[in-house]
Amino acid sequence: QETTPSAQSDVASRTPPYPKLLKRLQEVRRVLGSSRQLTLAEKILYSHLESPEESLLTNTQNGTTIRGVANLKLKPDRVAMQDASAQMALLQFMSCGLPTTAVPASIHCDHMIVGEKGADTDLPASIEGNKEVFDFLESAAKKYGIEFWPPGAGIIHQNVLENYSAPGLMMLGTDSHTPNAGGLGAIAIGVGGADAVDALVDAPWELKAPKILGVRLEGELNGWASPKDVILTLAGQLTVRGGTGFIIEYFGPGVESLSCTGMATICNMGAEVGATTSLFPFSPGHVPYLKATHRGSIASAAAGIASSPYQQNLLRSDPEAEYDKVITIDLSTLEPHINGPFTPDFSTPLSKFSEVVESKEWPKTLGAGLIGSCTNSSYQDMTRAEDLVKQASAAGLSPKADFFITPGSEQIRATLERDETLSTFSSAGGVVLANACGPCIGQWKRTDGVPKGESNAILTSYNRNFPARNDGNRATMNFLASPEIVTAMSYAGSTTFNPMTDSLPTPSGELFRFSPPKGFELPSRGFLEGNPAFLPSKGVADPTVEVVVSPTSDRLALLEPFAPFQRSELKGLQVLYKVKGQCTTDTISAAGPWLKYKGHLPNISENTLIGAVNAETGETNVAYDVDGSQSSIPELAKKWKAQGKEWLVVAENNYGEGSAREHAALQPRYLGGRIILAKSFARIHETNLKKQGVVPLTFANESDYDLIKACDEVETRGLLNTLESGGKGEVELIVKSRDGKETVVKTKHTLSVDQCSFILAGSALNLLAIKAREQK
Ligand code: F3S
Repeated sequence: QETTPSAQSDVASRTPPYPKLLKRLQEVRRVLGSSRQLTLAEKILYSHLESPEESLLTNTQNGTTIRGVANLKLKPDRVAMQDASAQMALLQFMSCGLPTTAVPASIHCDHMIVGEKGADTDLPASIEGNKEVFDFLESAAKKYGIEFWPPGAGIIHQNVLENYSAPGLMMLGTDSHTPNAGGLGAIAIGVGGADAVDALVDAPWELKAPKILGVRLEGELNGWASPKDVILTLAGQLTVRGGTGFIIEYFGPGVESLSCTGMATICNMGAEVGATTSLFPFSPGHVPYLKATHRGSIASAAAGIASSPYQQNLLRSDPEAEYDKVITIDLSTLEPHINGPFTPDFSTPLSKFSEVVESKEWPKTLGAGLIGSCTNSSYQDMTRAEDLVKQASAAGLSPKADFFITPGSEQIRATLERDETLSTFSSAGGVVLANACGPCIGQWKRTDGVPKGESNAILTSYNRNFPARNDGNRATMNFLASPEIVTAMSYAGSTTFNPMTDSLPTPSGELFRFSPPKGFELPSRGFLEGNPAFLPSKGVADPTVEVVVSPTSDRLALLEPFAPFQRSELKGLQVLYKVKGQCTTDTISAAGPWLKYKGHLPNISENTLIGAVNAETGETNVAYDVDGSQSSIPELAKKWKAQGKEWLVVAENNYGEGSAREHAALQPRYLGGRIILAKSFARIHETNLKKQGVVPLTFANESDYDLIKACDEVETRGLLNTLESGGKGEVELIVKSRDGKETVVKTKHTLSVDQCSFILAGSALNLLAIKAREQK
């Protein structure tokens, strides 16, 4: 077996701090009483509390009701960041003035790499186009002791699974699919950069204790069914909001038969049902995977813990642990599913798919099949797809649809190259793209001539399928399936083809039917390390390194701290915009072409709220000043900022739903936004607003939404007292309309003691910087 000395020497630093966690678990048991039965997720999470006593006994009726109630103050073991979100996380970390990160951290350059012609040309072009950002990330990594995975090294979640994830670990990642690491028994949560900074500076990271959804797996997968079908099926049952506020914990006899990478695929897509994270218990599939990735000592340590009596067993749930809800899935009878288009929860069993295509009049031609990505590029996935390609090639067939392969990491790419899997794909006409996100994040330069706006169908083994996600064309219907189903259907070039039952005509006039795919869980000759240029830098801080941010850059800008809260009520605020209907983080801070300005707050703020619908006129991104003059929302916000006028936004339900994108909170704050007044908030966004010093308030009476108009003047009453008393108190808004009429609007808030301190300091970061200076 190929050896990887670098990985071996790093294994000690990548082992979870088991002795500390086991001691903390005993403390949790003491606080809650020894008879209390805990799920696996609770054990790992609570063992990472800064103070079990404080978090588990405050506001919880002495520990009887923790889930959904307690405010957990957690100390994660590790942080991982992808290149797009790492920029703002690092800019924020830098402004705290610390010499090194408090916990091990890694940066992965994966999102900003285009998928077009293939890895050999796409990678150098993307490095050139993003040089300034990659140089910034690399120099900051060197200075602060962060491991830096350069462009080409792979996708964050695959790198994390191969190197950092481990049973019992708790980590944060600045990407929503961070839960992928739960396939290897870790609690891994996707967060915004400001949350990552909490962990990087050793401040506790707060989380409302999640409820636990147990998914019991029975039986064993067979034939065409794959781990992807577990989560595609579950997404259909739960819908995109069904997992909100829950951790999904898998258990039951079916777990024993799954590969580690299969479990990671299932956890990866838990993000699509809104779950906080997903995880599996320490399982037989973990041992060979840890050994194959040079972490045999972690496998032995975990096996020792997992065989202890349940009271000391950090890696399995207690025998009588109760879940808030249980769903059972029988793997033996599971059928492959196809989900989409446009939403991951529209789930159709393969046997019914052609009927649905006919009835909904979806396109019958399949334009492209794309396999790989962070969700599905394991050795098992790729060798099962390879088996199908070999079957078809032997029958003289070639894929009718364009066929793309994205390896998740250099390790998997190099291993698949040695084992001739990649050459099998290439000989069949497949295009192997760079080890990066590429088409999964809109970085797919599609060359098959489908015009923008024209309805067409593609099939991917990825995890998300919102409109325009892959090729920037909102009319592209993007369906999700396992790599096996994507591969087989690419040969038909048709969305109505069922590879389990239908045949294809061969050039010799015979009929060919695929046999169920067979693959290998792990490479028999071990994994190859691949190109040494793609190995990560060592995480050793070097204070002599200069982090260069050019003052003339349009991609990066150092952050100026926000002003602290003046110790008085807010007066003279004006309503910038009254939003009608859905307002997601995409509405507030759009992605796509704006991705390149993630590290430049003034530039990315030019997209603030550009997707928001004006409640009074029905127009999108059209705002009116007091004198009636018309402009875009960001233009009006900038104009008011220049005039020293601060503002608020009025909105409806679930304001800020979607992702953890902190730019959606940073940008309004930067432009002078002080309050968001909504009917309700999405939880993560509400927290993000508080962290950036914006006050989120909800209407005490939702119908008061109708009383406020754009450009009304607003003054707070009770806000200062509420902030100074750590959240005890009520806030009223005195709203003066343009005709001079005054209305009092009662509001509600969810400000905790810590969050009041963030707002008083100007932002959570200001508070961290103050504390860091005091420590010095
Ligand atoms: Fe990248 Fe897509 Fe995964 S953007 S991290 S491959 S979800």
